[in-house]
This record gives sequence, structure tokens and C-alpha cells, in this order.
Amino acid sequence: MAAPRPLIAGNWKMFGLGGAVDEARQVAAALLVKPAKARVAICAPSTLVERLARAVEGSSLIVGGQDIHAEPSGAYTGDISAEMLADAGAKMVILAHSERRSVYGETDAVAAAKAKAALRAGLEPIVCVGETLAERQAGRTLEVICGQVKGSLPQELAGRAFALAYEPVWAIGTGLTPTLAQIEEAHVALRQAMVDALGEAGRAAPILYGGSVKPDNAAEILQVRDVGGALVGGASLKAEDFLKIVRAAG
Ligand code: 13P
Repeated sequence: MAAPRPLIAGNWKMFGLGGAVDEARQVAAALLVKPAKARVAICAPSTLVERLARAVEGSSLIVGGQDIHAEPSGAYTGDISAEMLADAGAKMVILAHSERRSVYGETDAVAAAKAKAALRAGLEPIVCVGETLAERQAGRTLEVICGQVKGSLPQELAGRAFALAYEPVWAIGTGLTPTLAQIEEAHVALRQAMVDALGEAGRAAPILYGGSVKPDNAAEILQVRDVGGALVGGASLKAEDFLKIVRAAG
């Protein structure tokens, strides 16, 4: 099976007021002038999704969200559904980010339910997995992340567009990254876990690396075996930095 097209996705987290729309506009404009080899997405706070979708309309830049509730509607104050995010113009959504897992106690079962909800609404999910520093130091990295894949990827993903993101929790926002060998070891194991979970369909989705991806380390990370793109936090907030990472993918 041919390697899936790489995906470079920005995760703006809880950053960005109206002025941030300009950054997305700049990314979209640059992609129009020079198309990227990778697909490129910005996953924005819910409040900006509709504005971003309008601002980048007609470009190849994909707009996404960062979380959804698993139900299509209901008495869930403060939450938004997959249908709402799609209605606002999102095409993609990050699910089970480690900040959702650790701060809001999201389990693999919740991740799987949200992945099904994303598919129901036509959103492409980016499902996140990753080990903590304690788990890595205990030698449990592969067991933890492959277990997360098993629990978080529902069968319904087979044949549908989605991505997995490997984000070591200790590498997020810290400036620390695993060695290239550690990234390769994790991604190769994750690919096998995806095949175990979904059969051959598990080869069709890109596995993104996330955790302190910057303009100066993106190229070397992106050429590691089974790394199919990047999920970028801090460095996605400025168009100039994000575009350097996009261009590092070719
Ligand atoms: P940083 O790139 O800021 O480390 O964030 C990574 C991340 O959590 C992306 O989802």
C-alpha cells in the first residue's frame, strides 16, 4: 500500500483571538502560491473555527477543531458536538489529546466514542496517544501507546480518513524531543498496533509525530520511518514558523 500523504496539523490549543485569523490567512495564501506536498491543517479553538473556515475558503488549508462531545446534541453545557463543529466549517478534529486525557480524565473508551462521533459528522479524526515520562522511564512506552491504540481506534475507522498522532507527554511544550531512534521505534510499533486493530486499513492512515516540533527539527523528524507528518503546538501559532515546518515536509 502506498504511503499516505503526509499531514502537517497545527494545534492552536487555547490560544488565539480574532487577530489570529490573519495567521491562518497567511498560511492559506502561501499554499495557494506554492502548494505543499503535505496536507496542511489548523485545529483552532471552537470560537475561531467559523472565522478561519471563511477566511481560508478556496485554499487547500484544512480547518479543524480540538475536541467534541460524543453525542450529536443534548444537555451538555459547555460542550460542542461533531455536527456543530462540522456545521461551523471544520473538516477535521483532534481527539484524546494528552491534555484532554490528563486534565479531563478522558479514557480510551471516550476517545473511541468520539472517533465514531467524528466519522458520523464527516470529520476526519486525529486520535492522539503518548506515554508520560514515568511510563517511559519504567520501560513501558510501547505497551502504553499500543494499548491506547487498541482502546481508542474503533473498527469504524477502517476505510475512513483519519490520522494517529504520537505525542510523548514529556515532549509537549517542553522543548524536549525523543531521539530519532526513539521516534522510529514508537512509530513502527504504532503501525503494527494499527494493523492489529484495523487490519490492512491500519496502513492507510498517517502517524503524526507531535511534541516540540519546530522549524529547526522538523526536517529530520519528518524523514524518520513511519512518521507521516506532524502535530504542531506552539510553532503553529505564527504563520512564518508553521510554514517552515510545512515546507520541511517537502
Ligand atoms: P508543542 O509543539 O507546543 O510541544 O505541542 C505539541 C502538541 O501538544 C500538539 O498537539
